[in-house]
Amino acid sequence: MDMLISPSILASDFSRLGEEAQRMESCGADWLHIDVMDGHFVPNITLGAPIVKALRKRTNLVFDVHLMISEPHRYVEDFVKAGADIITFHTECDSDIGATLDLIHSLGCKAGLAIKPNTPASAVFPYLEKTEMVLVMTVEPGFGGQSFMGDTCPKLTEIKQECKAKNLSVHLQVDGGISDKTIAVAASAGANVFVAGSAVFGADDPQEAITVMRTIAEDSYN
Ligand code: DX5
Ligand code: ZN
Repeated sequence: MDMLISPSILASDFSRLGEEAQRMESCGADWLHIDVMDGHFVPNITLGAPIVKALRKRTNLVFDVHLMISEPHRYVEDFVKAGADIITFHTECDSDIGATLDLIHSLGCKAGLAIKPNTPASAVFPYLEKTEMVLVMTVEPGFGGQSFMGDTCPKLTEIKQECKAKNLSVHLQVDGGISDKTIAVAASAGANVFVAGSAVFGADDPQEAITVMRTIAEDSYN
């Protein structure tokens, strides 16, 4: 199983987004995590599809778009057209989950389903056949730089077991407080895609930070 590191541009210098994306590409990032917040689903506002479209011209990284918005069904087409490769939205949103997954797929994009820390693993079970990735949030969504909540990790194991029982191959992503100190816990619970904002952009040597985290994840993965 490949361990994938997806730096979150939420922690980058927003005045130089294109260069920051290129910097992550040259540092060996696997994906680029793009946090979209609407000030309604979460108490913060970040960026929208026009910025994703502009960034698309600057890098070939896989665009891992995390929609923390109340009505993803209304906006997924904009993000696909802007160049998203995989779009993840929350089970706690107001859109119909199955219809939104179908819409993302009909537009030729991959889909992911996210759960907040207080949402049980079982919330994604009915949709596992329709999703390429499940994101288990390891902080409350809304802000970068928060502390990792290790008690969310047993949900990864539950989802992994459910996928195995159904003979499905689904990426398991974690997001929030991931660093060289916390990544082993998530990997040993079954995560294989790791979002990291401050741990990568805040590092003196982001390339080394990515390599170290990937190596720890490979050594800890279960
Ligand atoms: C939080 C976002 C995360 C955030 C992670 O709502 O979904 O992607 O950028 O930042 P760190 O790694 O600093 O916790
Ligand atoms: Zn995110």
